[in-house]
Amino acid sequence: MADRALKDIGPVVLIGAGKMGLALAGGWIAAGLPANELVLVDPNASEAAHQFAERTGVRLVGSADGVLVAVLVLAVKPQVMLSVLGDLQPVVGAHTLVISIAAGISLAAISAGLETQRVVRAMPNTPAQVGKGTTGAVAGPGVRPADRDIADALLRAAGDVVWFDDEAMIDAVTAVSGSGPAYVFHFVEALAAAGVRQGFSEEQAMRLARQTVIGAAALLEADPSPAATLRQNVTSPKGTTEAALGVLMGPNGLTSLMEKTVMAAKLRSEELGR
Ligand SMILES: NC(=O)c1ccc[n+]([C@@H]2O[C@H](COP(=O)([O-])OP(=O)(O)OC[C@H]3O[C@@H](n4cnc5c(N)ncnc54)[C@H](OP(=O)(O)O)[C@@H]3O)[C@@H](O)[C@H]2O)c1
Repeated sequence: MADRALKDIGPVVLIGAGKMGLALAGGWIAAGLPANELVLVDPNASEAAHQFAERTGVRLVGSADGVLVAVLVLAVKPQVMLSVLGDLQPVVGAHTLVISIAAGISLAAISAGLETQRVVRAMPNTPAQVGKGTTGAVAGPGVRPADRDIADALLRAAGDVVWFDDEAMIDAVTAVSGSGPAYVFHFVEALAAAGVRQGFSEEQAMRLARQTVIGAAALLEADPSPAATLRQNVTSPKGTTEAALGVLMGPNGLTSLMEKTVMAAKLRSEELGR
């Protein structure tokens, strides 16, 4: 955050204490949001939500009725969002900054549902659960610079945040970083399957593949060099890696496959948003 601390932003109310909501809430408490400034709203809260509330001292309630709200964070499933917005209208006013993380729900739909233009739309990804998320965000027309700082601080508590001017880019964010962790998990599966073909047991192959990705990700994190440089660093001329990359980087290799993969996700994201 540029110049404001999470402790000064006023009551934050999280609607939907599910997987992503609790991941965000955990990040906020760790980043210094006082427990008495956070309220979780979930009419059918899970065991995990109750445990979170007990552990942190945060209030968990079944409805937002009568709750004071400075920042409203919407983390319910897209399917229930429109009816949730209707219920929330009485607690939202000109004093409220709204942040939605729901896939496919546009700024216009949230603004219409809550009758405010002070809305930020964000798309986080699941590594937010371990504080290593990547979030794409876009601000609605009523969002002031100070609002953006608050939204940035809240989203940044779960990892990196990239802001866009054009809301249409959120579909591309969904396709690259939103769905991206699944691509990496599948890469681990594919590498392990190739290992099994070389004679490893499934357990051995999965252990080698999984730890290779964890280790490579840690190297990426530790070394700011471009990924291409890190790749070149492990590719000696005429060596084994060079032979492998001749296949992976060849015609119809990973780059064109990834382009098709991302395009499929983006088209589906656009479709769901209609
Ligand atoms: N998971 C991801 O990777 C990811 C990534 C980016 C964005 N998102 C977005 O994040 C949002 C939440 O996803 P999630 O995976 O965290 O889903 P989730 O685990 O199902 O969490 C949603 C929570 O909201 C609760 N809820 C339902 N109706 C409610 C209401 N009227 N008021 C308050 N809470 C209510 C649900 O309770 P019940 O279970 O009883 O219905 C559930 O606890 C979605 O919009 C999704 O698009 C998720």
